[in-house]
Amino acid sequence: MIEHYCEFLPVSASTPTVSLGEGNTPLIHCPQLSNRVGRDCEVFVKNEGVNPTGSFKDRGMTVAVSKALERRAKAIICASTGNTSASASAYAARAGISCAVILPAGKIATGKLPQAFVYGAKIVTIDGNFDHALRIVRELGESGDFVVVNSVNPDRIAGQKSAAFEIVDEMGDAPDFHLLPVGNAGNITAYWAGYREYRARENSTKLPVMIGFQAAGAAPIFHDQVIEKPETIASAIRIGNPASWKQACAAIAESRGAIDVVSDEEIVAAQSWLARHEGIFVEPASAAAIAGLFKCCDSREAAYSFQKIPEASRIVCTATGHGLKDPDTIIKRMEKLKPVAATMNEVRSAIGL
Ligand code: F0G
Repeated sequence: MIEHYCEFLPVSASTPTVSLGEGNTPLIHCPQLSNRVGRDCEVFVKNEGVNPTGSFKDRGMTVAVSKALERRAKAIICASTGNTSASASAYAARAGISCAVILPAGKIATGKLPQAFVYGAKIVTIDGNFDHALRIVRELGESGDFVVVNSVNPDRIAGQKSAAFEIVDEMGDAPDFHLLPVGNAGNITAYWAGYREYRARENSTKLPVMIGFQAAGAAPIFHDQVIEKPETIASAIRIGNPASWKQACAAIAESRGAIDVVSDEEIVAAQSWLARHEGIFVEPASAAAIAGLFKCCDSREAAYSFQKIPEASRIVCTATGHGLKDPDTIIKRMEKLKPVAATMNEVRSAIGL
């Protein structure tokens, strides 16, 4: 990824590249989602779940860890709701440096914690949420012993811009709308920076309208106030005081977009819908963007309505993380499987189709 977009990244010939083959993720045309929008609009899902550690974080992490190595850092550190810690741990292992991850106790999805463990990170859990963890990490970063690889590190944002570049390169222009979940607000900041940079270089003729979605119980930007006790089933975006709050507001204002909320029920329903209708399994936080798309289409309360958008608009939704990272809500909904006799007839009748 770094080599391909090096002219847009803070790297030089002397930067060692720490890569696991991130980026170049599929932009999947979704006919069923397009039908839901109607008016000949086309919806695409940028599937970031197929990155090396299963989320978009790897784009920023390859740059942040490469730069940390260039600066001869011995250790990196991050606060995380799960995915950043998985990614940081992997890239630190690859670089041969130490990694500490500070996590809200009991709030990391089932698939994410083992990632940090297996890559050999030092895991510390706290009695507090992500916002508390990030505050501590920023203080530890000031000591000079660690390089902070949260998205407050500009190298992370720089790397994450590459998703916008890929979308424009593949579509031949920027999309008309870009929808994505918002947690710590680094990703919406990065996409907007990427789209603007490409437009300035005349690689595209337009800029998309940026529409961000927060979970209803963790929506500080939507409510314009810090949420002390954020709660949502989408643990990846369980954040009450996003670090890139101002930048997210700028992206939304400059693109004439919006910030909206979706409920946990809408998130879970959208997750299943996307899996069943398009064959794409995303984690709950990512499904917030799909739930958001439905809200734009159907709800009178939507912060941005798609009722009157131009015909044949092109819409991109970012699927930020893989569904296998957080299977608990799915497992809870599964019926208990009862084995049948090992005969063709029994199996035939059990299939019931
Ligand atoms: N989707 C997923 C799957 C995430 O893991 C995150 C953030 C977001 C969306 C929101 O992105 O923070 O740039 O607005 N996860 C961070 C973490 C906070 O620690 O893994 P954002």
